[in-house]
Order: sequence, then C-alpha cells, then structure tokens
Amino acid sequence: MYVAMATAEPVGATPAVKSDIEDKKASQQQIDPYNVAGEVDEHGNVKAIDYDRLIHEFGVQPLTEEHLRRFEAVTGKKAHRLMRRKLFFSHRDFDKILDAYEQHGTFMLYTGRGPSSGSMHLGHTVPFLFTKELQEMFDVPLVIMMTDDEKYLHTRNKNEGHQKVGVAPEDFLDFAHENIKDIVALGFDPKKTFIYTDYEYLGGHFYRNTSEFESLVTFNQAAGAFGFGNSTNIGLIAYGAKQCVAAFPSSYPDLFGLKDYRGPDYPPEAKRRHKSLASIPTLIPCAIDQEPYFRILRDRCERMTDPHPKTSLILSKFLTALQGPGGKMSASDPNSAIFMSDTPGQIKNKINKHAFSGGRESLEEHRKLGGNPDVDVAYTYLSYFLDDDGELQELAKRYRSGELLTGEMKQRCIAELQKFVAEFQERRKKVTDEVMREYMRPRKLEFAGNPSPKQPKGPANGVEEASNGADADGEKAARDDGRGTKGERKAAKMAEKKAQKLAQRPKGAEEVTEGT
Ligand code: TRP
Repeated sequence: MYVAMATAEPVGATPAVKSDIEDKKASQQQIDPYNVAGEVDEHGNVKAIDYDRLIHEFGVQPLTEEHLRRFEAVTGKKAHRLMRRKLFFSHRDFDKILDAYEQHGTFMLYTGRGPSSGSMHLGHTVPFLFTKELQEMFDVPLVIMMTDDEKYLHTRNKNEGHQKVGVAPEDFLDFAHENIKDIVALGFDPKKTFIYTDYEYLGGHFYRNTSEFESLVTFNQAAGAFGFGNSTNIGLIAYGAKQCVAAFPSSYPDLFGLKDYRGPDYPPEAKRRHKSLASIPTLIPCAIDQEPYFRILRDRCERMTDPHPKTSLILSKFLTALQGPGGKMSASDPNSAIFMSDTPGQIKNKINKHAFSGGRESLEEHRKLGGNPDVDVAYTYLSYFLDDDGELQELAKRYRSGELLTGEMKQRCIAELQKFVAEFQERRKKVTDEVMREYMRPRKLEFAGNPSPKQPKGPANGVEEASNGADADGEKAARDDGRGTKGERKAAKMAEKKAQKLAQRPKGAEEVTEGT
C-alpha cells in the first residue's frame, strides 16, 4: 500500500520512534542523544524525520557534491556509498579535516556506541561501516568508546533511581563486550584501532582532560543541551564531559607511543599531559542525535590548557525501522529490526511480513501508477547496503514505472541482507575473548596517514616524532613537536589568554552554547 502520510523524504528515516509517542499525541520532532522521534500530527500520524529542518536547527552544514569531489581528490578514492547517497548528509568542518590531511598527513578518528543491550541490529552497523572505510582510505588511528557508564546511568535515571535486576554496572560492561565483538567482526584493522569501555579504561590523562572539561560546563549548559533537571542523577549530568574529551588524542598517549600516568608508579615525564598530542585534529563520524555533545565540545576545545583544534564531524541519518518512517525499531520488539544474529529465514520473514512498502494496493494499480521507492523500506535498506550505483538506480526507475513489484524489490533486499549478515556471522564466530582483548590493549598504533603531505613538519605530524623519542625522552619530543609554527604559537597564546579571561569571569556570566 502507498500511504500518503510518508512524504517524499529520501532514504533513511527514523529507526526509533520511541514509545513516548505511542499514545499518538501531536508533538514536534525531537532529536537529541536521548530521544529520536519524528513529528506527530494532530491525527496521530508519525512523520518521517525532517533532516533539512535538523540542519537548520542544529546549525550544521549540508554535505555537498563539492565535498565529495574534494574528498575523492584528496584520497584518490571513490567516496563510500553512504556518502555518495548522502546518508551521511551533514558535517561541521569536514573541509578542515581534509585540509589537515592534505597539509600535514594525519588525524584521529573517533566514534562510539552505547551498549544498551547485548545484541546489535543492522542500524547500529552503519556508522561503523562508514568509519572503517574512512580509516582504510586515510590510514589513520581510530578510537571506539563503549559507554557502559552512560547506559547504566541513563537506565537508572529512567527507572527513577531504582536499580532493577540485570542492569547493574557489570551488566552494561557485559553488553559492551558483546558489542565489541560485533564491532570487531565488521573487520577493523587491529594495528590501528583501539576499542575500550569507560569502566575499564578511564583514568590517567583521559581523566585529567575529563576533569578540566567538567570545569568548563555548567549545570545550566548541560541541562539546556540534554534536557536535564533537578532530579537527574549527577553521574548523567557529568557524563557528557567524558564523551567530549574522548575526542582528544591527548586522552590516549599510549596509542601514540607516549606515556600515560596511571599511578602509583610513573615516569617523571608523564607528569603533564602531552602537548604534542593536542595539535592532532579529530574527525567524528556519528548519527546526528549525538551532535549536541559535540557542539559543547567544539565550543571548548580552545579553552583547554593545551588547546585542541575544533573537532570535525560527519553526521548520518538514522536507518529506517522495518515498519517505515512511523515504525519503532527496538531490541524488545524482534519484528521491528533485523539483528546481526538473525538467520536467513528470519531475515526473509521480517522483510516479507513487516517491511513497509512503497508499492500500490493492487497489482493492477502498481503496474499502472508505479511505486514510490523513497518510502519503500526494502529499497531504503538496499540504498545502505547495495554498493552498485547502477543497479540501485535501475531498481528505483523500474519501481517507479511499475515494472518492478514490491515482492521483487523485497527479494533483492533479502538476498543482499542475507549475504551481509551471513558474512558478518562467519567473522563473528572467530572473535574470541583473546581477539577482542587485542583491540582493547592500550598500545602504540601503526598508521601512515597521507603518503605525500604538503607540509610534513606541521602540527598533525607531531605523532611521528612523538612516537620516536617516546620512551626515553617523550617529554622533549612532545615539547619539540608541540611548538608548531610561529602563527600557531601565536594563536595558541591568544587562546590561552582568552581562556584565562573566561575563567576569571564573574559568577553568573554564563555563556550560551552557540553551536558553532
Ligand atoms: N552516546 C553514544 C550512544 O549512546 C555512544 C558514543 C560515545 C558515541 N562516543 C561517541 C557515538 C562518539 C558516536 C560518536 O550510542
């Protein structure tokens, strides 16, 4: 059936129209780290997420054809399908990360996942697939943060302070381990990838960055960005600082061959955080609901003791739930999502029975009027997982003309997803605890970055030098390559002055987070 309510929203609508709109009261679209819900009209119809409106409201930039061309020129490689099809559709300072790579040779990638359950579904793989591709193209280090603490705090907050059975901190740590195995099975290179859970890793220089960052965010600012109130637990209020400083390479000295302070025994040169690492820029690929964290981050990079460049972001849409734009994808409803543990039979049944169709009521009508691929869930999934642009275009064309039927579209989708999931499961079987732990060990990562940067002596290249002299005179290496150019030193001085001024401001002179 073709339902008019789902308008011409291009591929990729909401995955998680959450239960709070089940009672179908009219409400505005709401997107933040704790809510993903499309607008509900006065008749109770859930609309597809309006991404143009999000671009406007969040003040992010749309990803343009120009960016794609530049990306391909800088990397010498074809852009990933998720980018070509604008499923990664917006950004902040993506150009700057391309500049840095072109000029100085490297940057760090950072993404993460909140382990809210032990099983991952298809939608969860999307940012990771894209990140993996970026890592391969740029040959750069990647950190993946598993926020077991965030999910624990959030769950307990939701349960009004009660701790129910099966949701203690250790349960979230278990979920994190299961999720890490899934992520590893997507094929990340262990030489350049560090994966950690907050409960296991946080401390050392990471914690110093956290503490400093916490001092830069007031309760009012956190409440404004995340909707916290007086009864929100203080763990959740403070959590955001951790997700923010996780973007700083200086939170992970080991990965760059430098010492991290994890007392009681530590070498004298580890007394201070490494300035050289502060100059390495970071790119975060993630779904757009995470953007409020990173808006707060970007506004404060320059105010750190060792200022970091403003973090760049590349932001994706959400993978549509099986039921379409108004559906709800949740782990507790097995028919709403395709899980990475589903059998070929389950995938087939779910798509055939539950995938929202953009086809017509009857065969006759479909042949005459044609279907609408833009709201068709089987087609939408193909747009995420089928790499061949030509075939995808052909499918859309033939669907619109009425030549291709809903059942045939679904069949093509089933075949592609079965292949993707089966290959995943093959690799997942091989991910033992030992394999997982290899990714989780803090260790010097191996990466080469841009083979021919224009200014190899620039700030991002600090990595190489820092890692060479690391053990014996890490501090000296850090000082040397942290100096940067004359202009950079001047800029850093100015930033420091500005930070001092800000720190001395009278109480109550709260700056509103502007979303830069
Ligand atoms: N808060 C995210 C979640 O609930 C997890 C996360 C941490 C993350 N750091 C990130 C996601 C960086 C994207 C990018 O899923």
